[in-house]
Amino acid sequence: MTAESLRVVVTRRWPEEVQAELRARFPAVELNSDDTPYGTERLRAALREADVVLPTVSDRLPAELFEGDLRTRFVGNFGVGYNHIDVDAAGRAGVVVTNTPGVLTDATADTAMTLMLMVARRAGEGEREVRAGRWTGWRPTHLMGSEVTGRTLGVLGMGRIGAAVARRAHHGFGMPVVYFDPQEPDAATVGVPDARRVETVEEVLEASDFVTLHMPGGADNTRLIDEARLARMRPGAFLINTARGDVVDTAALIAALEKGTIAGAGLDVYDGEPDVPAALRELPNAVLLPHLGSATRPTRVAMGMLVLENLTAFLDGRPPPCRVA
Ligand code: DGY
Repeated sequence: MTAESLRVVVTRRWPEEVQAELRARFPAVELNSDDTPYGTERLRAALREADVVLPTVSDRLPAELFEGDLRTRFVGNFGVGYNHIDVDAAGRAGVVVTNTPGVLTDATADTAMTLMLMVARRAGEGEREVRAGRWTGWRPTHLMGSEVTGRTLGVLGMGRIGAAVARRAHHGFGMPVVYFDPQEPDAATVGVPDARRVETVEEVLEASDFVTLHMPGGADNTRLIDEARLARMRPGAFLINTARGDVVDTAALIAALEKGTIAGAGLDVYDGEPDVPAALRELPNAVLLPHLGSATRPTRVAMGMLVLENLTAFLDGRPPPCRVA
């Protein structure tokens, strides 16, 4: 099969620079110009009819989609997280799956910092007040928030993104760092002198003023932050989630925010997104972003180009650099 005849399906609209490259290299590529999500049946058809499928986090690819007679041999996910793809089932079906780590580390870490600052300093509340014409002027007790500088940051998952957040918080805001990760990271890679590794999630929750989540979604991490663990957090603490929505029990989080078990939450990801429960949307102490973690133009272009690099390696018979199945 030649690149000219290769049937490549791209499930969402990608940055134009990357789409131009795709068109140039694979004339038979199917792009999604109106950006409508595919849905299960269209994804099933893509796996049966296309050689290559390039999905994103908004596509669900469970085991049943990898059953039967598939034409697809390569699934190149646009994104680092891949808990929306059953990679074991893909592997059993002989489908190679890749992701895009590394290129979105800084953008996502910046988003975690944005959420920390916004929720601690009540920036969302203030912005809504100004836009609604409700601001009555400066006063000493207006929208008093929490300090960020010098408070303790707890990191759950000290991979690339967790470490990038820790470095920003420590070197930029003088924050001591405590973290849990089942795998011991290389201290030089973390880059935070005196970052304290502890043995349990609970120890991080109890020691931190801000807890930031950076573990993969799915599997053992589903509802990792539940009612019992929220209760272990400090009453003035904030929970930040730029990882995956299913890591947090949403109902328990809403209850904790309503009762003041914790002071606030900054969220970029949601279980069942894009649906966000009304009860969460109504909470003033929650800052809610629409999964913007990697959403800078250079990062989104780099993600697309990395998908292409993986695909090129696969087509050339080399190991794709970011193979996950
Ligand atoms: C990622 O790369 O995992 C982002 O969350 C988008 O999927």
